[in-house]
Amino acid sequence: MSPEELDSILASAKTGFFAVASRPEWESFKATVLGPKGSFTAMSKGLADVPKDQKPTIGKKLNEVKKAIEAACDEALRRVEALAALSTLGPAIDPTLPAPREIMGSRHPINQTYDRIVDIFKGIGFSVRLPRELETEWFCFDALNSPPDHPSRDMQDTYFMPEGIVVPSSPPHGDKDRYLLGTQTSTAQIRTMLKEKPPIRIIAPGRCFRRDDADAGHSSNFHQFEGLYVDKNVSLKDFKACMDYFVRELFGPNAETRLRPSYFSFVEPGFELDVRTANLGKLSNRWFEIWGCGMVHPNVLKNVGIDPEIYSGYAFGPGVERIAMILRGVDDIRYYYQNDLRFLKQLA
Ligand code: DAH
Repeated sequence: MSPEELDSILASAKTGFFAVASRPEWESFKATVLGPKGSFTAMSKGLADVPKDQKPTIGKKLNEVKKAIEAACDEALRRVEALAALSTLGPAIDPTLPAPREIMGSRHPINQTYDRIVDIFKGIGFSVRLPRELETEWFCFDALNSPPDHPSRDMQDTYFMPEGIVVPSSPPHGDKDRYLLGTQTSTAQIRTMLKEKPPIRIIAPGRCFRRDDADAGHSSNFHQFEGLYVDKNVSLKDFKACMDYFVRELFGPNAETRLRPSYFSFVEPGFELDVRTANLGKLSNRWFEIWGCGMVHPNVLKNVGIDPEIYSGYAFGPGVERIAMILRGVDDIRYYYQNDLRFLKQLA
């Protein structure tokens, strides 16, 4: 046995394994090399006859060749098995063909609703800012004039991050500040006012997270958008005009609105906006609550360094699912998250 002979056995084993195209072919080729009567097995038996002084070198070479043959053998097995798996998948696809009509997607109803809302507000000079999903307590509550012990915080219990986490792009405000999943898009008011100077006219569509039990009207993850307008001399009249415009664009020119006093820490006065209109199925011709809104609280302006003696503003925070459900007569919020094509197709 010589190193050259071993090399030539390795070379032909490699070529042979490379050529096998199925499991039976692989098995019979393997037998011709590594089986009891295989070429390599026969060759290795010759080690006994190698002169003593050459044994270490030839023995080492034999081992290397064995490893290389086994690697080629394993590689070939993996390849023929992958080939076999591929052949169970049916005919190859042609990615250049258009998708068949029945599997073509459509925009999700929540996104359709966002598109509509953003369109309406862009038309009257608002621009879009994206709220963060991972927020801090300061942005979510304190800066929005909700003190730590205020009972209204209980309504927005949420998911807190483990202590010790620091997000470099959004450092905590003091050592008590904790990270949480944002419960409301109102945080975008604070982030925008800290960065930009009035006049500010934005809407901020985003996701909210709350510890809520799922039912027809609640989900622990839902969508909202925040509207904010801050400038000199912004009055309640401007605010009501903006709400009326938006409601009529959404629900039709005959929709009526009314403001009902309510409490939200970051607005004063704060309201629930009610709507009444015809042609809305079960909701036709009766008042229903649509979203919270109000005049920006002077404390909020102070918290972001805007002088409330000079500037004023209004804010509103509609739930997107709520609007989508009312517009399309959907009676269970959970449909939006189940990805059931029977539902999605009806609203495509
Ligand atoms: N962020 C409030 C919530 O999730 C909704 C809201 C109410 C937003 C009044 C506002 C507002 O901007 O003025 O319950």
